[in-house]
Amino acid sequence: MMQVISTNIGNILQNASWIRRMFEAGIELKQKHGADKVCDFTLGNPDLPPVPEVGRTLRRLADTVDQPLSLGYMPNAGLASTRQRLAEYLAEEQQVPLTAQQVIVTCGAAGGLNVIFRTILEPGDEVICPSPYFVEYGFYVGNYGGKLVPVPSKAPTFALDVKAIEAAITDKTRAVLIDSPNNPTGVVYKRDELAALAALLTRAGKGREKPIYLVSDEPYRFLAYDGVEVPPILPLYPFSMAVGSFSKSLSLAGERIGYIAVSPSMPQADSFLAGLILCNRILGYVNAPVIGQRLVEAALGATVDVGIYKRRRDAMAGILRDAGIEFVLPQGAFYFFPKVPGKVRSPDDARVEGVPPSNRGPDARDTVDDVQFCQLLADELVLAVPGRGFGLPGYFRLTYCMDEAIIRRAAQGFQKAADRARTLGVGSQTR
Ligand SMILES: Cc1ncc(COP(=O)(O)O)c(C=O)c1O
Repeated sequence: MMQVISTNIGNILQNASWIRRMFEAGIELKQKHGADKVCDFTLGNPDLPPVPEVGRTLRRLADTVDQPLSLGYMPNAGLASTRQRLAEYLAEEQQVPLTAQQVIVTCGAAGGLNVIFRTILEPGDEVICPSPYFVEYGFYVGNYGGKLVPVPSKAPTFALDVKAIEAAITDKTRAVLIDSPNNPTGVVYKRDELAALAALLTRAGKGREKPIYLVSDEPYRFLAYDGVEVPPILPLYPFSMAVGSFSKSLSLAGERIGYIAVSPSMPQADSFLAGLILCNRILGYVNAPVIGQRLVEAALGATVDVGIYKRRRDAMAGILRDAGIEFVLPQGAFYFFPKVPGKVRSPDDARVEGVPPSNRGPDARDTVDDVQFCQLLADELVLAVPGRGFGLPGYFRLTYCMDEAIIRRAAQGFQKAADRARTLGVGSQTR
């Protein structure tokens, strides 16, 4: 057999992500039982229609498109008018003055992160990120020879552990990557946590030949509940950048529009921005989709109805509580990251990826782990992703970007699976 793909890509394919595996298991279950019988909480694909401005603008654009170059190649950094509008909008959101030159339009937040890591990483460089984390980060960093270094967040709240981040910094650290509101935990980092992180990076960066960047991935910035503040990152640290998108806020995920906004106090920002713009081009993105840029320009400031997501969050919280499943109530985004019910083991045990339960101390032997619990849920036609897919076994992730009726329909399944987990495990405990 010829080796038709690189070893690295072959390995990635072999170790399909847990989200992918559960997604595929879901397809099978849906074929067998009917799609309406399966409650699928695996994928974060926003189901709400795009905001009305999007449809209106598309109809208007359709009438003006019959002109030369209306859909031609566009500037690599984005349309001048889109960058200008974004700069005005983001200046307010981030509470710093921003010019169009400090904002680049990208193919989603994912494209933005790839552009950043292509621009700053040498092979072997390290990027620290709090764990659990969005699993794609490992690939985005690995694409350019970098190494993602996950650092456990504080238990049980998933707050930022700045001391642990400090301990993880090495000569090879080139960036710290944070995500707030967080996928998968729903946690929103507080102003004082972010200030402590910025102070740490300022200290740690002193005397270095290369800066340590702070990359704030914030596609869920608009989605915070109960008046929780999502503090801006750009005023805190000169080597910082905010990466965002309109995939969730305008329900525009397929149109691939996002941005990078660079701190106005970044030293040598001109070279840095030139690097970003070059990478946007040479990674093959060339420019962010032109229709998407026009849509964003027109719809900037609008968002889908956050109240709908909040109602879904509250419905899911009630169902999990009733089933005796422990969780930190999400303050933002559209994910829950609850604890696997059954026997409670120590957080340290839960963090040891790849160590079989039988090696985690005498008490842990009969515990239902996150993969087994997701199987128990699947037996009830409820699909979730094991926490180890996000770097933290012992938990599981649920999305709630689907109709509330589906969430309510899953109540019995959660209850039955949790009851079974408690029967299978020993010494069941829940809050
Ligand atoms: C934390 C996080 N970052 C980035 C992305 C990528 O989003 P985009 O569609 O903006 O590329 C996602 C998508 O789910 C995400 O959850």
